Amino acid sequence: MARIAIVTGGTRGIGEAISLALKDMGMTVAANYAGNEEKANAFTERAGIKSYKWDVGDYDACQTGCAKVAEELGPVDVLVNNAGITRDGTLARMSFDDWNDVIRINLGGCFNMAKACFPGMVERGWGRIVNIGSINGQAGQYGQVNYAAAKSGIHGFTKALAQEGAKKGVTVNAIAPGYIDTDMVAAVPEAVLEKIVAKIPVGRLGQADEIARGVAFLCAEEGGFVTGSTLSLNGGQHMY
Ligand code: CAA
Repeated sequence: MARIAIVTGGTRGIGEAISLALKDMGMTVAANYAGNEEKANAFTERAGIKSYKWDVGDYDACQTGCAKVAEELGPVDVLVNNAGITRDGTLARMSFDDWNDVIRINLGGCFNMAKACFPGMVERGWGRIVNIGSINGQAGQYGQVNYAAAKSGIHGFTKALAQEGAKKGVTVNAIAPGYIDTDMVAAVPEAVLEKIVAKIPVGRLGQADEIARGVAFLCAEEGGFVTGSTLSLNGGQHMY
């Protein structure tokens, strides 16, 4: 039987590439999204992957959404916590809502989704969870106290949950992408981005597919010995 995977934020950007990579591995994929229904429907049509709308920052919505996926596709074996937002600004200019939304969605989303999926994986003795962190959670970034804190939290969350899953056949790992050619990075002011790219040893932004390859590696059937680790895919920008 095909493995069932949920990819949060799975209809565009890095998430879209991950959804496609897991489908290529033979998995049945549910791509979660929170925003534009029209774009998600276009993705479903293009990719042949069902999309499901809910906000990962909403605990109850995650319970209901994951139950729906399980009912329609089967018990969830693989969870990729990819959904994330930015609300960049220096601390002086950052509102409480900018702080809270980023923590609630980027970090809280991992908790909410794991609560809905991890117990079933443990019960069935097999599971793969991959959390998408960030270079900016490892190294910090000017104008991102909210995002860096949430992503840094994801790395701690990963190592803690990995210990709970280890004896039960459930691996929990993180990927820390560097700057990837997506809408999120395109929103960084051009002059700032130029300076960032100049500091990437490979001399370019990464591609979403290059992150998806890492996720596929961590989700493989043979991946049982890799847990609690962070794969840094950043073109050498932060060697950690
Ligand atoms: N280090 C030190 N100083 C910096 C700096 C840095 N990295 N970046 C900016 N500054 C300084 C500027 O030189 C400037 O100083 P002066 O006033 O003395 O000239 C001052 O800070 C103000 O800079 P800005 O004009 O940029 O300030 P702003 O308030 O208009 O914007 C900002 C601030 C919103 C943080 C903007 O700089 C920005 O968007 N930066 C990009 C942040 C970033 O990298 N986000 C990543 C998004 S992608 C992502 O997060 C994905 C992932 O996982 C990698």
